[in-house]
Amino acid sequence: MASPTVLIDESALQTRIRELAAEIRAALPHDDIHFVCVLKGAFMFMADLVRAMDQRVSMDFIAVSSYGSGTSTSGEVRLVKDVDASLEGRHVVIIEDIVDTGLTLHYLQDILRRRGPASLHTACLLSKPARRKIDVHVDFVGFTIEDRFVVGFGLDYGETYRNLPYIGLLN
Ligand code: IMP
Ligand code: MG
Repeated sequence: MASPTVLIDESALQTRIRELAAEIRAALPHDDIHFVCVLKGAFMFMADLVRAMDQRVSMDFIAVSSYGSGTSTSGEVRLVKDVDASLEGRHVVIIEDIVDTGLTLHYLQDILRRRGPASLHTACLLSKPARRKIDVHVDFVGFTIEDRFVVGFGLDYGETYRNLPYIGLLN
């Protein structure tokens, strides 16, 4: 199995994630930010982001399915695992790996907003604006990339490559 070509290396990711943590801290100067990680793709981003935060935080996990095992979207979003705790009155930040068509985030923002959070923000490690099908607001974006299928740092192709410490392109 050939290694993917590096698009964003480990040190660039770590530098940008520390910057994002500072941006989030500046926008939400509360001591009680509640991070909701979108499984599975955002697990690595979440792990590094929360370690770069220095205030008290809490976290939960949600899982949706929008893709089959390939590289094209079905356009249908389904809730696979809900969060465990109530979001009522909390400062919630959704942590997502990538915003592509925007359908997944639009769905998530919609259902989580209805849970009555005090505030709802979204942080995405990557954004592919060329692919957007729906206008979705993302407060914190790590990197804007071209319309290429990427893997690594949580992102998969058929469940492989999630463990790569960098963002890569399949050849
Ligand atoms: P959207 O609903 O089209 O915005 O897609 C969001 C989801 O599709 C992300 O959470 C990813 O799981 C997946 N996805 C989109 N683009 C890529 C990619 O380039 N590589 C891996 N997964 C992707
Ligand atoms: Mg995902």
